[in-house]
Amino acid sequence: MNNKITGRSGFSSSFGVLAATLGSAVGLGNIWKFPSLTGANGGAGFLLIYLLATLLIGLPVMIAEISMGRAAKANPITTLQRLAPKNSLPWWLIGASGVLAAFLILSFYSEVVAWVFAYVFKAIGGSILSSDRHVTESAFGALISDPVQSLLWQWGVLVFIGGILLMGVTKGIEGITKKLMPVLFLLLLILCAVSLTLPKVAEGLTFLFRPDFSKITSGVVLTAMGLAFFKLSLGMGTMMTYGSYFRDDQNIPATTFRVMIADLFVSMLAGIAIFPAVFSFGFEPSAGPSLVFITIPAVFSQIPGGQLLMIAFFALASVAATGAMLSMMEVPVVVLHERFGMSRTKATVLTIAILVVLGSSCALTNSTLANFKLFGMNMFDLFDFASSNVLLPLGGILLALFVGWVWGKDNFLQALSNHGALGNGAIASMVFFLLRYVSPLLILVVMLKGLGLF
Ligand code: PHE
Repeated sequence: MNNKITGRSGFSSSFGVLAATLGSAVGLGNIWKFPSLTGANGGAGFLLIYLLATLLIGLPVMIAEISMGRAAKANPITTLQRLAPKNSLPWWLIGASGVLAAFLILSFYSEVVAWVFAYVFKAIGGSILSSDRHVTESAFGALISDPVQSLLWQWGVLVFIGGILLMGVTKGIEGITKKLMPVLFLLLLILCAVSLTLPKVAEGLTFLFRPDFSKITSGVVLTAMGLAFFKLSLGMGTMMTYGSYFRDDQNIPATTFRVMIADLFVSMLAGIAIFPAVFSFGFEPSAGPSLVFITIPAVFSQIPGGQLLMIAFFALASVAATGAMLSMMEVPVVVLHERFGMSRTKATVLTIAILVVLGSSCALTNSTLANFKLFGMNMFDLFDFASSNVLLPLGGILLALFVGWVWGKDNFLQALSNHGALGNGAIASMVFFLLRYVSPLLILVVMLKGLGLF
């Protein structure tokens, strides 16, 4: 749909809005990052902190971003310039930091997407379908330690995503995510059902649901909060950009709440599918980024027709990852297009070109650049840390402060209202309270502690 006033295109239906927003939120954050981090950080205690961060920080920041985007109908930088009073602080820098975060995340995310794409083909080949952990572990190891494969898959992913973006907002993003999300839910449900029949199901579920607080350090809390930002696509302008495509009659708090619940649901399903298998087949819960790629094939090896279902699973994970990547790329593309006057085509091509270079450093972390470290981390881990644990939370603090103290309550309530009626008055006031006082303070304390700054 074309907005008559601004000439920008937007989402055409209420379901489309939900599907696209959900398409941004649900991605490898749910299927890959959530299980890996939960496993590496001790299980249920981590999960609990993650949940608190989602409620007290994620929800309000998401509502803030979407309402700002819809109010200003522009890219994140212009949005902040439009909403901030003249001669105030350079709030637009939040948008600029979002562009930087997008490039950092896309650099390593595109490599994980590359593994997922490669696994579709490996699944077709059939060699990874095994409950022997040595087989699944060495298959994954062989893929990530091969520099040529790693690079080529990543570049393939980048070109593929660029192609979809060139088709435009409505057709590209809305069309694809709308159709395939429900199928992914279904497959995850099947995986859970299988996993729940495995021998060590009790151990897996205990790990996931019974908190052990001895594992919680300030670093773990920061990681859990970073995950909340990452999974809900917050703190870098993605939701602001999507908000700018929202229709005026869309109920923002309700949409946000649904997205959060659905996103959580997918993560829980992934957790329930993976942890019983981890214990039953003798994997290490703390295996990190490889966890999903080594356990999922083992689960599928337990069922008749497992190979076909595994192909479907990785294909659908590719779709989920694609939806999320599209939303990330939208940030630099729309900034280059609207702020720097480039055509969308040029903006997309430039973004891809930058990512081919920057992303290579992440693609090669398990081969050629294995020993190249900055701040004690390889590029993959560094980009992940710098984005999830620094830039996104920082964006979150500044957004919350902006809404709470600069944009103000009246403007915020106005932006949330549907056709002039201030529906959700009480909810909106509560969200405003969180944004003004609670979220910024919480994020600040968690960041300073987690980064060891006080
Ligand atoms: N939320 C996405 C996921 O879970 C990742 C993402 C992060 C997307 C930031 C957009 C912006 O995979």
